[in-house]
Amino acid sequence: MRDCHIKDPSLREKGRGRIEWAAQGMPVLGLLRERFSRERPLEGVRISACLHVTTESAQLMLTLKAAGADPLLCASNPLSTQDDVAASLVFDHGIKVYALRGEDPRTYYEHIRQAIVHRPSIILDDGGDLTSQVHLLGLGRLDELKEPVREWALSLSPEERSGIIEGILGGTEETTTGVLRLREMEREGVLLFPVIAVNDAYTKYLFDNRYGTGQSTIDGILRATNRLLAGSTFVVCGYGWCGRGIAMRARGMGARVIVTEVNPIRALEALMDGFEVMSLQEAAPIGDFFVTVTGNYHVIRREHLERMKDGAILANSGHFNVEVDLEALEEMAQGRSQPRPGVTQYVMHDGRRINLLGEGRLVNLACAEGHPPEVMDMSFSNQALCCVHLWKKGKGLQRRVYRVPEEIDLEVARLKLRAMGIEIDSLTPEQRRYLESWTSGT
Ligand code: NAI
Repeated sequence: MRDCHIKDPSLREKGRGRIEWAAQGMPVLGLLRERFSRERPLEGVRISACLHVTTESAQLMLTLKAAGADPLLCASNPLSTQDDVAASLVFDHGIKVYALRGEDPRTYYEHIRQAIVHRPSIILDDGGDLTSQVHLLGLGRLDELKEPVREWALSLSPEERSGIIEGILGGTEETTTGVLRLREMEREGVLLFPVIAVNDAYTKYLFDNRYGTGQSTIDGILRATNRLLAGSTFVVCGYGWCGRGIAMRARGMGARVIVTEVNPIRALEALMDGFEVMSLQEAAPIGDFFVTVTGNYHVIRREHLERMKDGAILANSGHFNVEVDLEALEEMAQGRSQPRPGVTQYVMHDGRRINLLGEGRLVNLACAEGHPPEVMDMSFSNQALCCVHLWKKGKGLQRRVYRVPEEIDLEVARLKLRAMGIEIDSLTPEQRRYLESWTSGT
């Protein structure tokens, strides 16, 4: 029996074709894979990755395997797994995968448990669920573990538990929400190993969060609803890197875009970028579409839901499904139906219909295929290079959250430009001297 828990092995052929398709949009990762297969920098290293199981993360797994590693992949969200990709990874490429689209919370954490049982030297995380379970285990805070991780942890001796943690050299984190959780852990002094915040690399958030989330969020909304954005009023809650991308793309499709924010600087920026800015309370009765992308809790609440118009469409692209108060929505509704795949329609007591996409989970992954390969090429090239960096340098690092080393960030940008056939200028010696001098003036 292979090391896996996936939905349907017969989907492998479809998955294989789609994984190959993604490779065409990921030239930097392709270059790294060639280099790694010659140099084998991760020979024998066990790596557990908790990522969205997509054609792009499949390419990352193949790259790690080419580097000599023994990777295991589990899902970082119960609704984002592409079952055909999981099947192909297991049966065409011999990679361990634990992920089923639509898995219940217990299965989700059973898969995370498998990632820990793999006894990784390096963990890759997206959102922090694997990292937090590993840490609760290592800190002996077993009561706070999720089932079935807790049940399993109770069956281990303290030595076995610390053996698992001591084997972990370091980790990486893919997304904003995960990095926030890590910084909290660092502040509380509970971080047990160094973690690299891949999200914070320029070649990650400036492209993946902005253009990737921008395009794929619109894609998810359109696939789920088939509605026209032109002429609609489109409310974006949160003007961070993701929100900027979504607002920009919605405007490009002809929508009137309203931004809501809590940060006055970001609100001003949205205003001067040409968007309308107002409170959500004001925007609630005029929006046709609402997208939350804040990384925060209960951004759309009862008082907003009460004011929304009949037919309003709600979607979330922030990491967790907590940005819309789903309990309030359930309580306020007298009935619900599923008019289309991915759309839940709640009928309010006053007859208004409010539509929720993808159960309030990341709409770009629940209702579409997540980010396009061209941006994941950069995000996952950072991941691959950071794994090698951790393997080489991890022992010398402290229990801290680290930025991606600048040379990795620059190398990813350089390789990406080269793959796109674009040349840029370089500084002349004279320009370099000028920039480095503080005595030259007018
Ligand atoms: P960010 O930190 O750059 O931006 C978040 C913005 O939301 C900030 O400007 C903040 O002031 C604002 N905000 C916080 N509470 C708010 C509230 N109650 N109302 C209005 N605005 C509020 O973060 P970034 O990088 O844009 O990420 C946002 C979320 O999206 C995170 O959860 C992140 O993990 C997730 N993410 C999702 C992706 C996807 O594929 N859908 C890809 C990358 C990130």
